[in-house]
Amino acid sequence: MSKLWGGRFEGQTDALVEAFTESVSFDSQLALYDIQGSIAHAEMLGAQGILTEADVAAIVQGLNEIRTRIEAGDFTWDPALEDVHTNIEAALVERIGDAGKRLHTGRSRNDQIATDIRLWARDRVDAIIGCLRDLCGAFIDFAEAHIDVVLPGCTHLQHAQPVLLAHHMLAYVEMFGRDAERFADLRKRVNVLPLGSAALAGTPYPIDRVRVAQALGFDGITANSMDAVADRDYLIEFCSNAAITMMHLSRLCEELILWLAPAYNFIEIGDAFTTGSSIMPQKKNPDVAELVRGKTGRVYGALTGLLTLMKGLPMTYNRDLQEDKEPVFDTALTIEACLTVVAGMIPTIKVHADRMAEAAKDGFLEATDIADYLVGKGVPFREAHGMVGAMVRYCVERGKRLPELTLDEFRQFAPAIEADIHDQLRLDSVLARRDNPGGTAPNRVRDALKAARKKLE
Ligand code: ARG
Repeated sequence: MSKLWGGRFEGQTDALVEAFTESVSFDSQLALYDIQGSIAHAEMLGAQGILTEADVAAIVQGLNEIRTRIEAGDFTWDPALEDVHTNIEAALVERIGDAGKRLHTGRSRNDQIATDIRLWARDRVDAIIGCLRDLCGAFIDFAEAHIDVVLPGCTHLQHAQPVLLAHHMLAYVEMFGRDAERFADLRKRVNVLPLGSAALAGTPYPIDRVRVAQALGFDGITANSMDAVADRDYLIEFCSNAAITMMHLSRLCEELILWLAPAYNFIEIGDAFTTGSSIMPQKKNPDVAELVRGKTGRVYGALTGLLTLMKGLPMTYNRDLQEDKEPVFDTALTIEACLTVVAGMIPTIKVHADRMAEAAKDGFLEATDIADYLVGKGVPFREAHGMVGAMVRYCVERGKRLPELTLDEFRQFAPAIEADIHDQLRLDSVLARRDNPGGTAPNRVRDALKAARKKLE
């Protein structure tokens, strides 16, 4: 194979090395960003008098034609030309001749790839924020539609206290809301132009970096040329944010899988979002939820991969950096697909409200309320805790629930208890008492729903 940058070499590149070093098989997906960046660069070179108007016009027209061909799918990518940058530049030279050879004035592939991947990351960040918003919308609709449903709230996966299903779902709106904020914050660090750093030290041409930044919609320019070509922090942050979002999705899916299991029987998931078994005709499996849980692992893998990729790199650009692409591309595809499919699945969930309410009666969920009731009667909390513990043991031995105890039975353990106790232990009174900001009292949850809806809009 002939050498790409021929001058310095006498020998040819080994075919194995060519296949080993090429990146066009994956970085061709940056093509439109690469062209966008090149047009902004060329127009700036023209405005600065570094290229002639005629050269710039030829370059811009040539690049636009190449873009059209790429979009139509009839551009042939050649691995012998190594990467997306060289493929496009070679096509440009083939089209317009010498003017095309002037495009690379004052830049390097090092600041070029950094620019392309930042433009890519900015779009992915915006798309992910959109997906997160849609998902939160699905949760809010779901919570609103099930505002009266009660289920056992758990700690240690043990029944703890009754909560509204809407409250439970709004917890996920909080998580995914924080995720969206993290991506929005990352966008500030992504949206800075590295072009003009050239290979690593800057360039002697009188370029105008601010003009290029404005043309490409960047908020500003990088401050240090060495950092600009060596920095991949924003991709690590991208994968880190994605890993946190996937962790949230995975927790949700784990719950849905449990709730779907016959032992819970809390929900059904719509046919469109479940799959059958090849051998057991009766099965309806939560494969979508399981795959989301499983795909969380590959996103964590990408994050670990990037951190490891970067840890030993001396300043500035090293070819190792080419290995950043595949994990971040895969991460973006994975997280966007997972967010979209889960947002589609949520509205198909049918809730077995009776089963949830029934379960909320098991596990002595009123225990804390009896202790709180006693505190209201002047019993110190620690003592009340001990008394109610003894009541629970008594119930366990007799197969009873706490509200089933008679007033006399209650009083054997806690003489301060009065005739209003049974009223106080009704599910609706238990819920209504959690009436402080962030609590599960129905009026609080209704307020929280409104606030969440408003934040979404
Ligand atoms: N394909 C390269 C990458 O992804 C582009 C930059 C090449 N720069 C270089 N000096 N070889 O990092």
